[in-house]
Amino acid sequence: MNVLDFQTCKGTRKISMVTCYDYWSAQILEKTDIDCLLVGDSLAMVMHGYDSTVFAEIELMALHVRAVAKGAPDKFIVGDMPFLSTRKGLQPTMDAVQMLMQAGANAVKVEGEAGQRELIAHIVESGVPVMGHLGLTPQSVNGFGGHKVQGRKDADAEVLFASALGVAEAGCFAVVLECVPASLARRISQAIDIPTIGIGAGPHTDGQVLVLHDMLGMNPEFKPKFLRRYGDGFSLVSNAVNRFHAETVQGCFPSQAESYG
Ligand code: KIV
Repeated sequence: MNVLDFQTCKGTRKISMVTCYDYWSAQILEKTDIDCLLVGDSLAMVMHGYDSTVFAEIELMALHVRAVAKGAPDKFIVGDMPFLSTRKGLQPTMDAVQMLMQAGANAVKVEGEAGQRELIAHIVESGVPVMGHLGLTPQSVNGFGGHKVQGRKDADAEVLFASALGVAEAGCFAVVLECVPASLARRISQAIDIPTIGIGAGPHTDGQVLVLHDMLGMNPEFKPKFLRRYGDGFSLVSNAVNRFHAETVQGCFPSQAESYG
C-alpha cells in the first residue's frame, strides 16, 4: 500500500488500519494483510501508562516509529504528530514532521482542523502525506471534558462537517473520524473525495482503525461500545506465563530435549 492506493480504495474497498508501537508486534503485522500501521500517540496510554495522549512527546513518538519501521519495512506507516506539536509555529511543526519521517514514517497524522488548514497544506506541499483526524481528537480531551462522542448536536455536526471539507481541501490523503454518530460519518464520507477511516464512527466510513491492544483483548476492563475484540490476549498471555511458572516450580521445565548435552 502506498499513499495513492488510499484514493484508489475510496468507493472500491474498505481500508484497514491498526496501531503498532514496537518492533515485535510490527514483525507480526508485517506478515498480515493489514493495509496500514498507525504509530498513534495512544502509545502514551497503552505502552507508558499515562491517562491521556497529552503526555506523548515527539522524541518518544520518533523512537516508536523507528522501531515499527524496522519491524514492518513494507507496510505504510503513519506517525502521529503529538500534543501541541503543530501549534507552536511553522518551524517547530516542520522539525517534528522531519523527526517522524526520518524515523521511518510514510505519512504524519494531525489532529483537528481549526486554525491548521494552511499548516496542513504546507506539510503536504513539502512532500509529506498528511492524514487528518476529526471528532473525538484525544489530544483535546481536556477541552472536551472527557472522552465523549462528538457532533451529536446539529451545530456541532455542522462544524465537524465543515472541518472534514477543510482537511480534504488542505490536501489530506485520508481522515480518521473518531467517535462521531454513524449518520454524520456517512454524510462526511459521501461528501469528501478522500477516504474516511472510522473508530467508533459506524459502518459507513471508507475504512476502520482499532488500537491493536484493544482488538486483541489485552485489557479486559476496556469495553467501549465501538470495540470488537478479535482475541482474548489477556488470557492467552496470563495462561502461558502461569504455565511457565508452574512448570518451572514443578521442575518439569526444561526437559532433557530442551537442555544442551
Ligand atoms: O493514537 C491513536 O491510536 C489514534 C487512533 C485511535 C486513531 O489516533
